[in-house]
Amino acid sequence: MTTTVDAVVDCIWQANASLGEGPLWDAADGVLHWIDITAGRLHRLDLAVGKQATVNVGEKIGCIALRDGGGLVAGLRSGFAFLDSLTGAIAPINDPESALPTNRFNDGAVDPLGNFWAGTMDDDETAPSGNLYRLEPSGAVSLMRSGFVIGNGIDWSPDGTTMYFTDSTRRRIIAYDFDTTSAEISGDRDFAWLGEDDGFPDGLTVDAEGGVWSAVWDGHRLLRFSPDGELERTVAVPVPRPTSMAFGGEGLSTLFVTSARIGLDPTALDAAPLSGGVFAIDVGVRGLPARTYLG
Ligand code: BGC
Ligand code: CA
Repeated sequence: MTTTVDAVVDCIWQANASLGEGPLWDAADGVLHWIDITAGRLHRLDLAVGKQATVNVGEKIGCIALRDGGGLVAGLRSGFAFLDSLTGAIAPINDPESALPTNRFNDGAVDPLGNFWAGTMDDDETAPSGNLYRLEPSGAVSLMRSGFVIGNGIDWSPDGTTMYFTDSTRRRIIAYDFDTTSAEISGDRDFAWLGEDDGFPDGLTVDAEGGVWSAVWDGHRLLRFSPDGELERTVAVPVPRPTSMAFGGEGLSTLFVTSARIGLDPTALDAAPLSGGVFAIDVGVRGLPARTYLG
């Protein structure tokens, strides 16, 4: 049975982000990192004191993850790189798409073995030129899947044996069997999908009970699927374009949600003035700690 939950949704930072994305909870520092893809910005919020800071990365930034030993790893317009979260300084690792100038990185996440996975997409959102890559701790990159227009949210089941990857244009979340020894994927199948008028699944995160959360772009809501793919819960948000989610805060009990203003006309923005903000919601379940890239 699906329940629609009227959760309290707090806007904790109205940054008017163009394409707010990639929330990432750093439990060691008590910091929420997030990005604005099109503006090329990295934002940080020190939750205990409410301190906000922003640095310019100087190019489009699609995704970020924690790096073992401190700092971040990122998928940038110019490829995979290490990123200093305080200064925005970049140290390139590997660019698998130097020959594809119209692509850029989109969502990414770290697997249970410490590899960083990230997808690329056509910046015009039309060509199926998007690829899914695995960046290994050595810096080597493997091409894992191809042919997406907008590859999006990625995460793993709590036991690590299932990987989820969102194909926004086809309105589907794909599930793969994930080999927790070799980090190979197999058994591609549709896990969940949205109808024609339901918006597009974007960012994805898995909670501690194995519930799969999907932010619905043009859907004004978040969805939670049970591990067998049943839509179990809907949470309304005050913006049409929620983009991505991460659990964080005390006991990983707060769901942080980013959102976008890009592409919304003045009427839509008037109706949803918090578009581009970051929200905090108590959804009654806890998350899992963010995994760290071991490179
Ligand atoms: C992409 C946007 C896209 C949106 C659609 C985001 O992850 O960065 O370019 O429009 O997904 O869901
Ligand atoms: Ca996304």
